[in-house]
Amino acid sequence: MKNKLDELLKLRAKARMGGGQKRIDKQHAQGRMTARERLALLLDQGSFEEFDMFKTHRCTQFGLADQEFLGDGVVTGYGTINGRIVYVFSHDFTVLGGSLSETFAEKICKIMDLAAKNGAPIIGLNDSGGARIQEGIESLAGYTEIFFRNVMNSGVIPQISAIFGPCAGGAVYSPALTDFSIMVKGNSYMFLTGPKVVKSVTHEDVTEEELGGAMVHATKSGVIHYAAESGPDAIDYIKKLLAYIPQNNLESPPVITNDDPPDRRDEELNSIIPDNPNLSYDIKEVINRTVDHGEFLEVQTEFAPNLVIGFGRFDGHPVGIVANQPEYLAGVLDNDSSIKGARFVRFCDCFNIPIVTFVDVPGFLPGTVQEYNGIIRNGAKMLYAYAEATVPKVTVVTRKAYGGAYCVMSSKHLRGDINYAWPTAEIAVMGAKGAVEVLYGRESRKQTDPEAFLAEKEKEYADAVANPFPAAKRGYIDDIIEPARTRFRITKALQLLKNKRDTNPMKKHGNIPL
Ligand code: HXC
Repeated sequence: MKNKLDELLKLRAKARMGGGQKRIDKQHAQGRMTARERLALLLDQGSFEEFDMFKTHRCTQFGLADQEFLGDGVVTGYGTINGRIVYVFSHDFTVLGGSLSETFAEKICKIMDLAAKNGAPIIGLNDSGGARIQEGIESLAGYTEIFFRNVMNSGVIPQISAIFGPCAGGAVYSPALTDFSIMVKGNSYMFLTGPKVVKSVTHEDVTEEELGGAMVHATKSGVIHYAAESGPDAIDYIKKLLAYIPQNNLESPPVITNDDPPDRRDEELNSIIPDNPNLSYDIKEVINRTVDHGEFLEVQTEFAPNLVIGFGRFDGHPVGIVANQPEYLAGVLDNDSSIKGARFVRFCDCFNIPIVTFVDVPGFLPGTVQEYNGIIRNGAKMLYAYAEATVPKVTVVTRKAYGGAYCVMSSKHLRGDINYAWPTAEIAVMGAKGAVEVLYGRESRKQTDPEAFLAEKEKEYADAVANPFPAAKRGYIDDIIEPARTRFRITKALQLLKNKRDTNPMKKHGNIPL
């Protein structure tokens, strides 16, 4: 028995060394952790249970017959994060560049299936040279098996990806299919085809960083949700995210004990809206002053900053927050912000997370750039997402809610449950200036002082229409609230909606305008 145990320990030690000390040193020299170091940081100490440590590839071509690595380049298993079970896989770049073989994919699929069956999140730590070139078609099949499971698990269990190194070719599609993707700045990249192929096809000269670095995907493509400063920062963000998310679609989000009084007033909010409607303020200040302890975990900070999304809590209960940001492009809805908001609303709805929406939106951004890029189709995504969401929806209009953007931003007509407005709210078809141009433009040109005439009409229009009372009179706004009491009113609204049940008509699935 002792010999057998010794042999087992020897093999385990060998598996833990992955591709060997030299390659581990190279990984460290590049400022990267190993697959196991990442898992050690992610999971509660001593909680990791590994699967398939002795699994090896079956390929005999191109020199692989003589090379065998226990575990075959991916570490898989389950463990806990703050006591809650998660399933994990972590690519080991020291083994054949973390490339994906048939057996490598089998290991990941096994973990994905277990996560789905047991209703627990799955977290993938990516660092891979893509399909194992020696294998060919088997690795393509393996990728596709993973993609299939990403789709089947979507909306059932939370799926989170972090990219710590290369992620190229078809490998990018698994992270893209998951709910949240995180990259490490300056040390990871994601692209379909690398700089060399780009050069040969489009003659563009581009570096890996310019093509698919973390900041490219955080600011331009919107592929990722957080650009981390370092590997440990990426892991920390995963843990922060999980704290707001339930284990699966049948559970409620995790409630924590709260000692921030729900009825806490915030007098600053009574004067946060500038008297001049053309001046901006920071909606994040409104959010921070409203949620428990000012703790707001923002998602996709750098992408489409005219819409802020993220997680917070009211009296210990997690919510997803969507808010127009007047500080950026006056908070308009455009293509990117509509796509960003729609996906987030759908995530919250999948996982029973109530949505709190702060509205200050002058409308959809006009112009050829927006129209050519499909603002009609993309704006419709946001509309669709809010309309189909059955989780509790609480809305606060702080200032402007104009035109189509009023309709879209969790309005009563899209099943907004509780819709409040601050006294500063202006809810109308369009801003007073634009409205008066349309209604009185021609007449103004006949006046001796057209400007004074228009200014008077503008005031008339604003007094009559651009305020919250017409909407409140019709019940589209449930109450006009004092800004200082926003936290209390939202908390009460969420308590009221705690047992909300709502459904959509039976169907295979809807057809969101993609
Ligand atoms: C097999 C691979 C590999 C791969 C790297 N290695 N990628 N082995 N298949 N895809 C091996 C290397 O041979 C090397 O082995 C070790 O991993 C480390 O690689 P290096 O090149 O030394 O590392 P580095 O300089 O850091 O460069 C990393 C890299 C580069 C940029 C990822 O290795 C690379 O370009 N790899 C190929 C990427 C690629 O084209 N993949 C296929 C994409 S197509 P030794 O023994 O020397 O340590 C694809 C299709 C999927 O994925 C479609 C699904 C639908």
